[in-house]
Amino acid sequence: MCSNVCPHRSAVIAEETGNRTVFRCPYHAWTYDPQGRLVGAPHIDKARLDDISLKELRLETWQGLAFVNLDDSAEALAPNLTALEERLAPLHLAEHRVIMTDTLDVTCNWKS
Ligand code: FES
Repeated sequence: MCSNVCPHRSAVIAEETGNRTVFRCPYHAWTYDPQGRLVGAPHIDKARLDDISLKELRLETWQGLAFVNLDDSAEALAPNLTALEERLAPLHLAEHRVIMTDTLDVTCNWKS
């Protein structure tokens, strides 16, 4: 799984849902393939393309839930959750389905 943030100037590359064969950053048109490799960028030496890619993110699933970990050196999550398995078993988490999503725009200072 790759980050959705362009390594050039940190723009969000894709929003919403769907399928694409390439992902073009809206800021300066750097273009990535679905594996996150840079495949094109205006005014860049083609020899540099192989050196640039979207950041690879660690993804683990547990009980049907997805967890992204930004720490490459962190230990695996699932072994640390075994104590919860018995307590959460009656909830059948792996069988749950998304029935609604929502987005809230909040006027706030996210830095404080
Ligand atoms: S921020 Fe993505 S191409 Fe510049």
